[in-house]
Amino acid sequence: MNTMISVTDEREFLLSNARISYAFRASPQGILEHLYFGNHVSGAAGLAASIRKTYRTTTAEFEGVPYYHLADTPQEYPLFGTSDFRHPALHGVNADGNSIFTLRYDSHRISSDKPALPGLPSARGGDSETLVVTLKDAVYGLTVDLNYTIYRDYDVVCRSTTITNDGQHTIELLNVASSCLDLPADDYELLHLHGTWAREFNAERIAMPTARCVIESTRGTSSAAHNPFLAVMEKDATETSGRVYGTALMYSGSFAISIEKGEFEEVRVLTGINPFNFRWQLEPGASFNSPEVLQVYTDRGLSSMSRTWHRFIQDRISEPRFAHSARPSYFNTWEAAYFNVNETSILRLADRAKELGLEMLVVDDGWFEGRDSETTSLGDWQPDPGKFPSGIAALAKQVKQRGLKFGIWVEPEMVNEKSKLYQQHPDWILHVPHRKPSLGRYQYVLDYSRADVVEHMFNQLDELLSCGSIDYIKWDMNRLMTEAGSALLPAERQLETPHRYILGLYNLVQRITAKYPDVLFENCASGGNRYDLGMLRYMSQGWPSDMVDPVGRLSILNGASYLFPPSVLAAYVGPSPNHQNGRHSSLQARFDAAFFCAARGISLSEADLDRDADEIREGFAVLRESADDVVNGAFHRVFHRANETCWQLTSADGNSVYVGYYHVLSAPNLPFKKALLRDLDPNAEYRLTKNPASTYTGAALMHSGLALPWVDVLQYNPELEYMDKGDFSTCILVLEKVT
Ligand code: GLA
Repeated sequence: MNTMISVTDEREFLLSNARISYAFRASPQGILEHLYFGNHVSGAAGLAASIRKTYRTTTAEFEGVPYYHLADTPQEYPLFGTSDFRHPALHGVNADGNSIFTLRYDSHRISSDKPALPGLPSARGGDSETLVVTLKDAVYGLTVDLNYTIYRDYDVVCRSTTITNDGQHTIELLNVASSCLDLPADDYELLHLHGTWAREFNAERIAMPTARCVIESTRGTSSAAHNPFLAVMEKDATETSGRVYGTALMYSGSFAISIEKGEFEEVRVLTGINPFNFRWQLEPGASFNSPEVLQVYTDRGLSSMSRTWHRFIQDRISEPRFAHSARPSYFNTWEAAYFNVNETSILRLADRAKELGLEMLVVDDGWFEGRDSETTSLGDWQPDPGKFPSGIAALAKQVKQRGLKFGIWVEPEMVNEKSKLYQQHPDWILHVPHRKPSLGRYQYVLDYSRADVVEHMFNQLDELLSCGSIDYIKWDMNRLMTEAGSALLPAERQLETPHRYILGLYNLVQRITAKYPDVLFENCASGGNRYDLGMLRYMSQGWPSDMVDPVGRLSILNGASYLFPPSVLAAYVGPSPNHQNGRHSSLQARFDAAFFCAARGISLSEADLDRDADEIREGFAVLRESADDVVNGAFHRVFHRANETCWQLTSADGNSVYVGYYHVLSAPNLPFKKALLRDLDPNAEYRLTKNPASTYTGAALMHSGLALPWVDVLQYNPELEYMDKGDFSTCILVLEKVT
């Protein structure tokens, strides 16, 4: 029996759980009109009052129906050119050479399972219901299935679209949005995440202008430039109050989220594959599936939106085998040795890692044939015989004999010109005729739109993993797509290459992760250049940025936390001065900055390890104690200001509360600061484990606040010595529940 989806005789559709509802209806003309997305309502009664019909000067009337114009009608899947002048969800060209289609309600079906999207990642169902509404264009045989899933325990609506050509002639698709959300006229603000290499996930909050804004990637990866995420919120919404509509696209290629405030001030949010540089030939009988979009609603501010994302991503997107487990702490060789790795040094580092209390040794770049620099060898995934004479399987075995797990880095989507693979198959890269393809980091992108290339790489990875001694793979992707054409596709299909590439990539990662379910995969693309829910569906954690300097990481993690939970985030303690921004920082600051990421490691030279062994060992002992809590706890942004950041994480059982306080630049005579904590038991008592071991009630912590330590060198207090004085001063405070 369906309990979350209801349909009335008037064809009003209502999807509800105990907290949220989503509603639309088929108009008498068969147009799917959006009615509502918001707090729970018990029925659709009254919602249709939002659809008003009036005389509008200059606006055309749809198919001659008086006062019915689509330009001011909120819709579920709008088209262009039949009285709606806003950007459409679907745009294509029919055999007559025009772009006019009309989609009318045809039928619907409801099921209690959530079918997987063919060839694309999607959230898992379970205690959820799915509604599929079929719309048809009577002239050209275009059929559109709109898929909606609602969950009982998560305030998320999943949406996707399947386009089928039931006509006689090819239809050229120019834009297939996964979803449209037409919000009523209001003052909204937008929050999105933008950046570049080593400066990913900057949160920008802007007022919605009366214009069209596009958050997008044209780069072939979802990219660090803009993450496929957007929050539209009520003006002045805060962390703890206000209506927020969150959108995230589960896709790893070029995407677009278009936000358009039209002439009547409604705001239309279209999300999907970027229509720019996209064209798809849909032959008779063929279907096209859009990626899945997730929509979140809350009226309790950004913190509540993030909690919904965090729980949902951990429970319904991450691989259950890893999602709730503490991740192995690791030594990564990259910033310790760069390309200079060999069997002897790795085994020496493995011994050191073991002594320091780490659980895994990861060999990063530099291990395969001839790979002494960035200029060579990508594509040839055989161990370098000079560096690793006994091979990787034997090395892994020896590392494991020391009681450590073993991990290794790969970049399977790339090839250097200087490689056997490129010499043998120069046409296996993305390229177009008559032009030399552009290089990025001395490498070309392999053409994953080709099944033979994907098959070859599957076999390479299979050979590597089949030794059975590899516990972890860091899957990297270090450049963007240019000249994105394929030698195998005909001219009219060349613009299908980037999306076909992503389908090839998903095919490969799906097959390899399914064949090796015990291997933990970490997603990386020069840091956060492809840090999205598509990749995280297959890979349980991700490397959000190459920036590991503690100050540089603050805004990256703060921004990432709007969408991503600590359980998918990786961080390591890197060198000082930092290799990306040159900043000097204490080991404590570097450990504290890694604290709220589930996967924690270290990448330091042997000289650094010698010098700081005791502090490092102690640092990992502290991290180990909190490892389960950080994976499964509830994370909150307490504040993130120009000079200071404070985050809170409450363990799943509510018994431990971790508060990270990060003060950037010191100054004399500073004010006394407090942190207003969130979501504690107001009546319980919590004791600070550090000196002074003060006790607070939950209510006091939430409403009066936790007194934060001083960084001011003049305000000397021996009891607060645990916070370094001066610049880049950090601490993790722990509160234990006592009653
Ligand atoms: C990228 C990654 C780094 C490292 C290097 C290796 O830059 O983000 O962490 O793995 O590649 O070449």
